[in-house]
Order: sequence, then C-alpha cells, then structure tokens
Amino acid sequence: MDAKTALARKLDLTHRPRRNRRTDWSRRLVRENVVTINDLIWPIFVVDGEKVQVPVASMPGVFRYSVDEAAKAVAHAASLGIPAIALFPYTDPDLRDPTGSEALNDQNLVCRACRAIREVAPDIGIVTDVALDPYTSHGHDGVMEGEQILNDETVHILVEQALNQARAGADVIAPSDMMDGRVGALREGLDAAGFGHVQIMSYAAKYASAFYGPFRDAVGTNKTLIGDKRTYQMDPANTDEALHEVELDLTEGADMVMVKPGMPYLDIIRRVKDTFGRPTFAYQVSGEYAMIMAAANNGWIDGEKAMMESLLAFKRAGCDGVLTYFAVRVAEKLKTEGVA
Ligand code: PBG
Repeated sequence: MDAKTALARKLDLTHRPRRNRRTDWSRRLVRENVVTINDLIWPIFVVDGEKVQVPVASMPGVFRYSVDEAAKAVAHAASLGIPAIALFPYTDPDLRDPTGSEALNDQNLVCRACRAIREVAPDIGIVTDVALDPYTSHGHDGVMEGEQILNDETVHILVEQALNQARAGADVIAPSDMMDGRVGALREGLDAAGFGHVQIMSYAAKYASAFYGPFRDAVGTNKTLIGDKRTYQMDPANTDEALHEVELDLTEGADMVMVKPGMPYLDIIRRVKDTFGRPTFAYQVSGEYAMIMAAANNGWIDGEKAMMESLLAFKRAGCDGVLTYFAVRVAEKLKTEGVA
C-alpha cells in the first residue's frame, strides 16, 4: 500500500464538517448566532453649545454633540430601530468640583439631553450613567478624603444623581461607579420617589482597564484624573470575583448586568450568563473601538468585517446586547442588507 492509499484509508469519510460550509445558503442555515439591531445600545457624548459636533481625536467617527445635535442624532438612531442610547457628558471644567455637585443640577447636560431626546424620540430607551467622574475636579467616580474614595458618602450622592436623571426622563439608571451597595441604595431611592418603573443596568463587573483611555479624552477626565481607579474597579486578573459582584447586584435589584470592557473579558461574560441566566450586556469600550478604527484606517484590517466579527463575539459569549460606538454604523449596514 502506498502512502496516498494509506492516508485515504485513515481519513474518515463520515465526518466532514466542511460539507455544511460549502455554500452561502448552507452557512446561513447552520449559523448559531446573529447580530441584530435589537442588540445595540449607542453611547453618545454631549457637550455645551449649539449646533456643534466636536470630533473625539482618539475615536475616529465619534463626536461630542451639543444637545440639539444629540437629539437629531438620536432621532436618526431611533429611525434605524436602535432600542436604546446611553448618555455621557463632557462637563465644562469650570463646573467640576471635588464633590461633583453638577451631577445634581437639574439643568445639567445629561438632564437637558434627556428632555430634548424625549421630544424627538419618545420611544427610545434612555440610559444614563451614574458615577461622579465627569463632574469631579479630580476625575474619580466618588468623593475623596485624602487619597481615599469614600464609599458610603458617594452612594448617597449617587442616589440623588439617579433621581435627578429619573426626573429628567431617564428609563435606565446605569451605575458605573463600582461603589459597594449602590444598586440596593439606588433601587430603594427610586422606588421611594415613585420611580419603581425605572430599570437598573449595573456595571456589575467593571475592571480597572487601560481600554478606557479614549473615553476619558471624550469626557475630559484624562488630564484631571489623579492616580488610578484600582481601589474600586476590579483587578483584571480576577474571574470568581466578577461572579460575586454580579450576584450582589442582582440580589440588590439590578434588572440587567454588564461586563466591561468587552472583548478582553468574553470569558467573564460567558461565566456570568451561564451562572445567572439574566439579561447580560457587554460594553465594547472606547479603547476597543479605537483599536479597530486605528488598524482599519491604516489599512491593516478590514474595519467593517472586524466591527461585525467583534459584535458577533459578544453574542457567542452569551450577551443579550452590547453598548457599542459602532451602533449606528452597524444598524445602517444591517438595514441596507436587510438582515434585521
Ligand atoms: C466612568 C466610566 C468610564 C467608562 C464609562 N463610564 C471610564 C472609567 O471608568 O474611567 C468607559 C467607557 C469607555 O471606555 O468607552 N464612570
């Protein structure tokens, strides 16, 4: 028997997984996961002024919008069928102080944006960020005493911040601060004030990550941030701890949980989904977006394919949805291709 015949005998003719991949129709038929417009939450940045769109240098294609422009952009997102947007403010540096008091101003950027968006897109979900970093002079998510970020004092302020947002029309309160016990306090505060219908999407497992750099450019905290956030955000080395954080937030009343960043933490998403089976989201953060865009703009990868593949990875890992700066681009693509 020559080598060729020996090999042919060895090859098992019954197991041929490539058969299902031979044609486009067949690949579509056996596809296990799919990205749809219903999976998208679009984070947007708002800034003072009128008729302005300020490009964020480290995030090509992403802008800070004045409230009027944000309303227009969200109306477009709503027309595409994007279910929800998430608001982040670039607060005038003059309005930042050690306790983040601008967070409680009912005329702050986020509140004004909520009201303007509600007028033009009555049915879109508005997610607001609860954390003090866009408002504090030191760039931390909580109030400080010396070098310490004070937990319980911060939680009291966060509840007030959430109520301020709920009064402005926020549908979903999304605490990204990583203080202990804040979800329970927010739930209680919202319920007591008649906002029992307002949902909580907690940034349950949020890591102290290098991938937030471009976001901090966008909200203007890169220059102001003193030190780092490792005393409240999680150690990237940990995975059991993520389950503990998620369990606590669910017990305290979170309706949806989030893992952040996204792509470097797909293992965490899978564990969270398998363990709790609750609505689970990922935040494809600014650094992930910047990496894809930078490589694409250099001609090193096919940006559109990388965008879709990255989002599919979240679905495969068990996500119900993704916060992504690509949301509008993806929705436009899906719409023209008739996939969703
Ligand atoms: C802060 C906050 C951050 C992001 C969302 N909310 C950054 C941080 O923790 O410093 C990051 C989002 C992104 O990088 O896209 N409360």
